[in-house]
Amino acid sequence: MTDQLTADPTAERDGATAMAPTSWWRDAVIYQIYPRSFADSDGDGIGDLPGIRSRLPYVRDLGVDAVWLSPFYASPQADAGYDVADYRTVDPMFGTLADARALIGDAHDLGLRVIVDLVPNHSSDQHEWFRRAIAEGPGSPMRARYHFRPGRGAAGELPPNDWPSIFGGPAWTRTTDPDGTPGDWYLHLFAPQQPDFNWDHPAVADEFRTILRFWLDLGVDGFRIDVAHGLVKAAGLPDLGARTEWHLLDVGVSPCFDRDGVHDIYRSWRRILDEYPGERIAVAEAWAPTLDRVANYVRPDELHQAFNFSYLGTAWDVATQRRVIDESLEAMRRVGAPATWTLSNHDVVRHTSRLLQADEGDVAGRRPAEVDPVAGLRRARAATLLLLALPGSAYLYQGEELGLPEVIDLPPEVRQDPAFHRATGQDGYRDGCRVPMPWEGDQAPYGFGPEGGASWLPQPASWARLSVAAQQGDPASTLELYRAALALRRADPALGGADNLRWCEGPDGLLVFDRGDSLRCTVNMTDAPIRIPRPGQALLTSGPVDLSGAEAEIPADTTVWWVPGSPDGAS
Ligand code: GLC
Ligand code: MG
Repeated sequence: MTDQLTADPTAERDGATAMAPTSWWRDAVIYQIYPRSFADSDGDGIGDLPGIRSRLPYVRDLGVDAVWLSPFYASPQADAGYDVADYRTVDPMFGTLADARALIGDAHDLGLRVIVDLVPNHSSDQHEWFRRAIAEGPGSPMRARYHFRPGRGAAGELPPNDWPSIFGGPAWTRTTDPDGTPGDWYLHLFAPQQPDFNWDHPAVADEFRTILRFWLDLGVDGFRIDVAHGLVKAAGLPDLGARTEWHLLDVGVSPCFDRDGVHDIYRSWRRILDEYPGERIAVAEAWAPTLDRVANYVRPDELHQAFNFSYLGTAWDVATQRRVIDESLEAMRRVGAPATWTLSNHDVVRHTSRLLQADEGDVAGRRPAEVDPVAGLRRARAATLLLLALPGSAYLYQGEELGLPEVIDLPPEVRQDPAFHRATGQDGYRDGCRVPMPWEGDQAPYGFGPEGGASWLPQPASWARLSVAAQQGDPASTLELYRAALALRRADPALGGADNLRWCEGPDGLLVFDRGDSLRCTVNMTDAPIRIPRPGQALLTSGPVDLSGAEAEIPADTTVWWVPGSPDGAS
């Protein structure tokens, strides 16, 4: 939004640079497009790049600054494209490289930046390097680019160590040698079709620097780094000992996550990004045990942003929200990076449902539960207005602007999340947030693809009411709420990146803060109305609020943005 230099009030105290440059990404709202589920141009039931292209004006009109595209590269789709077989090719399911180039060009013409997903922790087992590693057998130089090890036990029949796969079962799969006998094992922190690269091998590091340049040359504005905390493993791949289960977003301290060595990789990538004009950025998907450890990924010579999973998992409660927001701002301030905020993505239960779920320890919302859809949407809308009032950058996930609920009743046979089909099925419910977008019409696929076409996951009948066409122009709709909030945020320089959040006291259960002098945000986090003297003029409310008297009654789970000052004569 703004391109000036602003003083960082806390900079001197922490010895950082006194003037922090405000760049596009510091307050950007970035909209995640999940290509399989956004728009399908050819009727095969799977979204594609030409489909995305055709819907870019919608994204522009929403009022976001950039899109992040989940992977669309050549892939057998064992993990919905997070298993990449060729990092420089578009999967025919999604289109061609020419489509990617055209999409980037169109987006730029519309004033949208484009961030693509980079998956450096592992490749697909169909990647040329891995196929050769298997075919060429033990001793093949290609094996050194992954983690191959002999098994334990008398005949090598046990995995080389006790690491679990995040998708369930052991993190090791045994190979068969070219002569048909059981051979070495290889490491895969995720599905067996996703072998982990050995980042100590110089060819791996070289290859990824080349991949970065390939996409930068094509015009992308940045990268979302998948499993950014996973690349470097402790020497010797030591046993864990006690702990036997890992989950997405919840891995703690371990020999294969958040090792200090990853930061050298990101320093070298930052140098590449900085060679290109126009401020190309990278955002880390880094799950680290503390916000301070997350901040290490966004030191001035490393990446630009890191997802704030601590916030994503924060309970709907005033004290907890205040604490995590403060900790987030403080941790990022120390390294001069913007905080980021997100409530939904392609790996977690949609926040329309998740924020109402009882199990608050379940940060990623791994086990979706049935919730009251009206109450769920009310709370989600309140949470979104809170999120968009926080300083820094915000990430939105496609469909949240329609208030789409989590789909919890997908039959097992249509589910494609690899974790669902493995072992305990932990983290295996991610299909429920990946159901294709409803755009228009009364019948599935609701404009997701051509009429009469399919969608790779079935869309609920109730989604006719939630389509873009059904909501457009209705001021009470969630879509128009997002548009209004994004327009206000864009128009007001005190919102967005400025480090100007000030907490205010309020009655129990009401979260109250100011952004500079221009906005007060009040969030009722209880399930009963709260009456307050009107703090000014209401700018935007996440639900109906009675503003007729000198007092305002803020209903349960409702956020109000106010222009502070006297409540313009209405009292
Ligand atoms: C990241 C992605 C997730 C994927 C995993 C393995 O967490 O967000 O979707 O399954 O990495 O690549
Ligand atoms: Mg298609």
